[in-house]
Amino acid sequence: MKVLVVGAGGREHALCWKLAQSPLKPEIVCVPGNVGTATVARNVALKVTDVAGIVKLAQKEAVDLVVIGPEDPLVLGLADKLRAAGIHTFGPGAAGARLEGSKVFTKDLLDKHRIPTATFKRFDRSGAAKSYLEGCTTWPQVVKADGLAAGKGVFVCHDAKSACTAVDEVMEKKTLGSAGAQIVVEEFLVGEEASVLAITDGETILILEPVMDHKQVGDNDTGPNTGGMGVFSPVPTLTKRLQRQVEQRILVPAVHALRREEIEFRGVLFVGIMITDSGPKVLEFNTRFGDPECQALMRRMKSDLLPILDATARGKLSDIQEPHWDPRVCVGVVAAAQGYPGNVRKNDVIDGLEDAEIVPEAVVFHAGTARSMRGEIVTAGGRVLCVTALGDDITAARKSAYDAYDRVRFEGKFCRRDIGVRRRVEPEESSRP
Ligand code: AMP
Ligand code: GLY
Repeated sequence: MKVLVVGAGGREHALCWKLAQSPLKPEIVCVPGNVGTATVARNVALKVTDVAGIVKLAQKEAVDLVVIGPEDPLVLGLADKLRAAGIHTFGPGAAGARLEGSKVFTKDLLDKHRIPTATFKRFDRSGAAKSYLEGCTTWPQVVKADGLAAGKGVFVCHDAKSACTAVDEVMEKKTLGSAGAQIVVEEFLVGEEASVLAITDGETILILEPVMDHKQVGDNDTGPNTGGMGVFSPVPTLTKRLQRQVEQRILVPAVHALRREEIEFRGVLFVGIMITDSGPKVLEFNTRFGDPECQALMRRMKSDLLPILDATARGKLSDIQEPHWDPRVCVGVVAAAQGYPGNVRKNDVIDGLEDAEIVPEAVVFHAGTARSMRGEIVTAGGRVLCVTALGDDITAARKSAYDAYDRVRFEGKFCRRDIGVRRRVEPEESSRP
């Protein structure tokens, strides 16, 4: 069997690494991949947004399955083009990817199908948005740009003045480009945030193990948002009871809503929720595996990943058994390059990778890495590596992950030192089924 994985991050290295362990012994091609994927797959240098190029490659290579990692090619309709060419694809088409690519679309869908989310208003004119905000009596209000904005499109505003400034930035100054052509203003929800990842073929829903990332760049959740600075799994606060609530109140109705709207969805539904006093409410959807969430999931998944992705792509997920999971804890620490999440320094030589993997149960996933002309492994992105380790408990997993992290060296390397610390376990919760 031949599989094409699209993407260049730690998520795609983890997917290729896991697929390479399949007893079905697939041949793996990765577009464009990184130094890590090259150890288990054949990298082909195409951009992830080169839809025509990727379809042509998939045809030329006669691949049996394409797995799309990042959101950009999904939103561009890569999955539609591949399916039109008769190629089984894991990842939704452009219509399904709008759940991630358009807040307006998502809020309308949630509203229409009565799926719990913050109350909201949508605007396509800044004047109307500002008049509305000036009349608001409850604060904070949350201003959200409609389109993909790499985590920069959400503004929690504490008064009308700052909210109107956010509207001007997004709609008048167009700081986020076309992503800000429309906005949503929504109620501020109070509670604890969590995310639930599920794989679905539009019929069957397979909920994955609870996993949590750390979005802000600094310890104790300080500084700007990033793609994710680290991860741990399982998550004690996300109890089975809460997962069932999310499944029954959000995921099942969402999959049903997609069917009613005649949107075929075969891939990952990743829902960000706020656990409020009146139950879980949707903050956002992503339509792909999270990065670095995927790395922790792949470390803990014991079952073969390939049949799961393949069955999803074929619309046959009901044929698949629930996967088995390693009961141990996984912690993943992102090694970032100086400057991240802003402009980062690049081309620094990375040493100590082999030494890091001497630590028992440690695996280093590459993200922003490349080969220099001299054959060295060098930094090539903001998130350079994700250093993962399994342990019998969170303390052991953290110790191994940081031990392995400390063995890797490159100029300007930094990480958060508190990955996995944010594990509030409420006694009555942890003992519930
Ligand atoms: P989103 O991209 O919609 O998930 O928003 C990014 C972050 O903004 C979330 O992870 C929350 O921390 C925060 N946020 C978004 N919407 C709300 C809301 N309605 N109430 C409170 N916080 C929110
Ligand atoms: N780690 C968050 C994301 O992938 O969206």
